[in-house]
Amino acid sequence: MVRMNIFEALRVSHDVQRDLSRRLRASLDDAVQRQQVFVALKRELVAHETAEERCFYVPLFEHDTTVDASRHAISEHHQMDEMVESLEAMDAGSAPWRQCIAKLCDKIEHHLEEEEHKFFQEAGKVLTERQKVVLAKDYEAQFLTLRVEQG
Ligand SMILES: [Fe+2]
Ligand SMILES: [Fe+2]
Repeated sequence: MVRMNIFEALRVSHDVQRDLSRRLRASLDDAVQRQQVFVALKRELVAHETAEERCFYVPLFEHDTTVDASRHAISEHHQMDEMVESLEAMDAGSAPWRQCIAKLCDKIEHHLEEEEHKFFQEAGKVLTERQKVVLAKDYEAQFLTLRVEQG
């Protein structure tokens, strides 16, 4: 069996987030559906961010060429968490809520794009082949544990 590398493992989660983001944008007029999709996206996002920071960005801080990427990505994780928090305090379905949902979905899509098309390439140059496989295993284990804790 061919083992996944860290980039493939992260992409699996990214595809789930892209799908949830698309579904959230499409369900804004359905109160039940939009709430279900929002909760699912929040759980997915929180588990992914933490597991990705521990199993991808922390090892990348070791290398001078990937410090900036790691800082940037972690700061975007924080921005997305704050948007989710603001949304939870808003009146769902209102105009400001819709605007904030659009901003969150845009941010998620931008973030995934930047990781896959910029940071993965930079990381590919500094991580060893063995590290790429070991980190994928660590990521999957962390992600699953965190995902279960999220309910
Ligand atoms: Fe990320
Ligand atoms: Fe990611």
